[in-house]
Amino acid sequence: MSSPLEGARAAILEVEGLRRSFGGVQAVRGVSFAVAEGTITGLIGPNGAGKSTVLAMIAGSTSPSAGSITFRGQDISGKPPHRIARLGVIRTFQSSSEFERLTVLENMLVAAGSQRGERMGNALLGRWRWRSEEEEMVERARVLLERFEIPAKEDELAGNLSGGQKRLLELARSLMSEPQLLLLDEPMAGVNPSLVRRLEEHLLGLRAEGLTMLMVEHELGVVERLCDPVVVMAQGQVLSTGTMSELRSDQQVLDAYLVG
Ligand SMILES: Nc1ncnc2c1ncn2[C@@H]1O[C@H](COP(=O)(O)OP(=O)(O)OP(=O)(O)O)[C@@H](O)[C@H]1O
Ligand SMILES: [Mg+2]
Repeated sequence: MSSPLEGARAAILEVEGLRRSFGGVQAVRGVSFAVAEGTITGLIGPNGAGKSTVLAMIAGSTSPSAGSITFRGQDISGKPPHRIARLGVIRTFQSSSEFERLTVLENMLVAAGSQRGERMGNALLGRWRWRSEEEEMVERARVLLERFEIPAKEDELAGNLSGGQKRLLELARSLMSEPQLLLLDEPMAGVNPSLVRRLEEHLLGLRAEGLTMLMVEHELGVVERLCDPVVVMAQGQVLSTGTMSELRSDQQVLDAYLVG
């Protein structure tokens, strides 16, 4: 494929024969792919293809009906979300998932607590044994908010942020527990074009720091600029895998997704 390094890169995540039905709907029907360490791997396909369901199964919020999910050699399929988060696998959501009535900073701290599997009360109340850890978390939150250029907003209620700022907050929150693998579900959804470019720069910066990402995205320009390789799903199955330019000349992919 595109990168000469690709063969040498170890898979951080391997999904094998994954299935999931909802009542009579077979949302995911035998999906297998791998995510190599250090990549932003794309996951694309038409509405209802099963992309979000695949991310939900990896993150543990939906259990697979069949198949296995291996993260760094460990089978994580069917484990509860907080255990998977603690291993370093964190998901962001297709719709921003902030708590509107909490401040931006509180949102960051709540995310840290839930990603670590602690009881939120302890993390927020700052009992003496949690004190130093809480201070460390506040410091980490401030650094991340500054990095994503939302520092002035830290005492603002999250509900008052613009749509684009909510997407930045969603990303910043996902980094509170120093994840190893980010599962991004349409991180650019509803974001205006100038912020799209900024978000792209942030994601490339994170990749340069060694973070691995699996990203669902509809905007193919974004996928082309960020993702290699790209996995194409349709109707619950994997159609093809390759670079975006390879996929553009793949007739099966064209028929199912890229045109018509
Ligand atoms: N919790 C659920 N209960 C019932 N059906 C569901 C549930 N979640 C997903 N589905 C169905 O499973 C199929 C795949 O949905 P999924 O959300 O994974 O698709 P997607 O590829 O993420 O689509 P989109 O691009 O629109 O976000 C759809 O038919 C959807 O209606
Ligand atoms: Mg989806």
